[in-house]
Amino acid sequence: MAIIASNFKTNHTRKSTSLFVKEVNDYLKKSGITNEVYVFPTSTSLDTFETVFNFTIGVQNAYATASGSFTGEIGTSQLDEFEIKTILIGHSERRHILGESQEEIARKYEFYKNLGYKIIYCIGEPLEVKNQGIEKTLEYIYEQFVGIDTNYENLILAYEPVWAIGTGVTATNDDIKNVHNAIKSKISKPLLYGGSVKVENVREICQIQNVDGALIGTASWKVEDFIQILENTK
Ligand code: G3H
Repeated sequence: MAIIASNFKTNHTRKSTSLFVKEVNDYLKKSGITNEVYVFPTSTSLDTFETVFNFTIGVQNAYATASGSFTGEIGTSQLDEFEIKTILIGHSERRHILGESQEEIARKYEFYKNLGYKIIYCIGEPLEVKNQGIEKTLEYIYEQFVGIDTNYENLILAYEPVWAIGTGVTATNDDIKNVHNAIKSKISKPLLYGGSVKVENVREICQIQNVDGALIGTASWKVEDFIQILENTK
């Protein structure tokens, strides 16, 4: 059984999200699928559907607060309106584009952990670190666990090498295996791979030892592709 998650990032409208969710719902009702499925739409689309069948809707980000003066952010008062209990934390785009520090990420993690949220926690190295070899890569990744309680029961990890995200360049099976084996030897939590996962390679990636599923951006945005990904991994 694979865990398959779609991260919309800043894509899809309310209308297209509603159609996407409806089609995934219809597919999952028919298919008798055993995969664990997550969809992370934009926060503006969280009220465009009513019930989801056999999969979970989460948010890509939220602030570590219930409410307050944090311009541009949302907190749990807003998430509660949509019964959201699942969040992505530590995504590479939040670390490297939006400038979230490890300290801020750890604070967010602790806040959502204390509320019992399911957390998909992302880690991964940039290209200049990968080029220095596996030891440096692991050192960099372990720094991303500072302040993170890896014993948390509702934790899923996602290894996403920064150089593979949205580039079309998937990590090799050996790259994935080496990092996943190392992380799993220290932390026994479900561990997804993310970074240019495609319809064509998702099955093979999910069959690598210590890969428990995939966190997918680009290749999951067309609903027919996402459904094919679910088919390929069931
Ligand atoms: O959250 C998803 C990852 O950033 C992977 O994105 O599939 O477009 O490479 P990608």
